[in-house]
Amino acid sequence: MKILLATEKPFAAEAVKGIEQIASAAGHTVVRLEKYTDRQQLLDAVSDAEALIIRSDKVTADVVAAAPLLKIVVRAGAGYDNVDLAACSAQGIVVMNTPGQNSNAVAELAIGMMVFMARNQFSPGTGTELKGKTLGIHAYGNVGRLVALLAKGFGMNVIAFDPFVNSAAMEVDGVERVETIEALYSRSNYVSLHIPATPETRGSIGASLLGSMPKGGTLVNTARKEVIDEAGLAQILSERPDLKYATDIAADTQNELNEKFGTRVFATAKKMGAETAEANVNAGLAAATQIVDFFATGNTKFQVNK
Ligand code: 3PG
Repeated sequence: MKILLATEKPFAAEAVKGIEQIASAAGHTVVRLEKYTDRQQLLDAVSDAEALIIRSDKVTADVVAAAPLLKIVVRAGAGYDNVDLAACSAQGIVVMNTPGQNSNAVAELAIGMMVFMARNQFSPGTGTELKGKTLGIHAYGNVGRLVALLAKGFGMNVIAFDPFVNSAAMEVDGVERVETIEALYSRSNYVSLHIPATPETRGSIGASLLGSMPKGGTLVNTARKEVIDEAGLAQILSERPDLKYATDIAADTQNELNEKFGTRVFATAKKMGAETAEANVNAGLAAATQIVDFFATGNTKFQVNK
């Protein structure tokens, strides 16, 4: 089988080597399309692919239509909002993710961003400490839980909101479950966002939630830019000169935010949460293994379009 590894943002060499080894040991061939700049390159490359490994690469209906042999797409990572699930399902294509495999990298970045913002983006002057502050985890999945555990090491008081996780699962980590999203934001000096981008969450974090945060409140977004109401964010940053926003996924209006709010806002140059060699190896090898297993045994454990 031909497995296309299509990564606009390529994996570390070690991860690519591991993917190739796993595939070839099972009799499959890996073809690489890395750092592509034109979508036509992707459309051409999928034309004879039976399997596809991607990162945040967009698998839209035109990609699906250009891939008549495609049986499986594995998003080497957690969020699969970049894949048109309906288009894949309509063509009988199985879509999977690799949950948990890059979580530690993202969690470490979230904590790093909190320290960075607490110390005024490492510019001279007096900053603050994380110790003793309350951190609100917005969605207690793989990344949220790891952020909570790391934050406990900093001496933070950790609370979390997640309607899909019960309080026992949080208590075991020393984390208090709060019942409402409003309670999470109004009590948290820091909020770390870990919600996926879905029709329900898009634009859901705006002026009212952010405006309820205590003085000096900081929102750290290592999730998705789409969940932010950017107009609401700009409004509340204007009204509340104490609030801060750090993100790993630049806002569409990031230039204006930077100009207006200086060191109170920060965005990485390109999404880098999962950009560690370790995360690349974990997610990449998991993706290759899942594809090999799917073709060998029909295993669809991580399928997201069931
Ligand atoms: C994910 O959903 O797994 C992360 O956002 C990582 O995305 P990336 O593979 O494009 O870095």
